[in-house]
Amino acid sequence: MKFYCNKVIGFTKKAVRLSIGGGYIKIAYYDYIGNIDIAGNWIFYGDNDGLVYGKNRRKSKKRATRLIRDRICTFNAKEAIMENSLPKHIAIIMDGNGRWAKKRFMPRSFGHRAGAQTLNKLLKEADKIGIEHITVYAFSTENWTRPKDEVNSLMNLLREYIDDYIKDNETSNIKIDSIGDLSRLDEDLRNKINTLKEISSCKKGLNLHIGLNYGGRDEIMRAVKKMYGELKSGNIKESDINEELFSSYLDTKGIPDPELIIRTSGEMRLSNFLPWQSTYSEIYISDKLWPDFNINELNKAIEHYKNRDRRFGGR
Ligand code: IPE
Ligand code: IPE
Ligand code: MG
Repeated sequence: MKFYCNKVIGFTKKAVRLSIGGGYIKIAYYDYIGNIDIAGNWIFYGDNDGLVYGKNRRKSKKRATRLIRDRICTFNAKEAIMENSLPKHIAIIMDGNGRWAKKRFMPRSFGHRAGAQTLNKLLKEADKIGIEHITVYAFSTENWTRPKDEVNSLMNLLREYIDDYIKDNETSNIKIDSIGDLSRLDEDLRNKINTLKEISSCKKGLNLHIGLNYGGRDEIMRAVKKMYGELKSGNIKESDINEELFSSYLDTKGIPDPELIIRTSGEMRLSNFLPWQSTYSEIYISDKLWPDFNINELNKAIEHYKNRDRRFGGR
């Protein structure tokens, strides 16, 4: 019997997990009977004995049998290996700039400036290793409650950051957009951000999504309002509403959910970052303060991610 798989969901140390129809199965590497065809498709031929699923082999086999009945399993081995080695989307809570500056008896703005440089270096490295998306939390909906001085210095730093990007645009490979409600930002800054998006839209490298006046709850509320408007005007019906449709009203429309979320400075909370999108993200907490974060630390986080068994609610 041959069976079909739509997608490789993930890998564990001993098995590959494949999605089949609505569910998924795990196939132990040492159990598969298969071949790689000329196009690089890894075809599994097997009967139910070729499958191992969780500890309860009997129950698992029953479920697997139901899932794979008369289907052909084929997926691209090269893609699978890529998928195994790297998360496509990493989201980062860049925290600890203030503490970094304090340790040096410097104002907080000094820490934010160092943090922006850290981000620039890291993006170049991440692009080289083939990460497709990075979302960074730069300014949250709650950060407005900080002293006016600090908010101003953060906004000015952002202005500078954008000007520098526009100046060195030729040398950059990074495509930039933003998530969050820009309407609260000053008009000149909004214009700069739009120019930045336009200029970088032709880039072919890493996609950087900057969280600016971003708050997960605010994002969800705005999405609800937009959806409600569409419902009232008859563009959608109640029966159209599902997770996929709802996601399309979020700022992250079209961006895959992050497989990995990194927070620096040792804090173990998400602080209103991507609540809808992070339901199955692996979370990595680094003790480094953000300005001290670098590619080695990123690689550590990725290694950690690779060794986790992502079960998506299964066993
Ligand atoms: C993160 O660093 C940057 C922003 C929130 C803009 P912090 O400013 O929160 O630094 P700590 O947490 O006070 O050290
Ligand atoms: C999260 O850091 C927001 C950003 C990194 C932009 P905060 O420092 O603002 O979060 P809390 O206050 O520690 O939760
Ligand atoms: Mg902080």
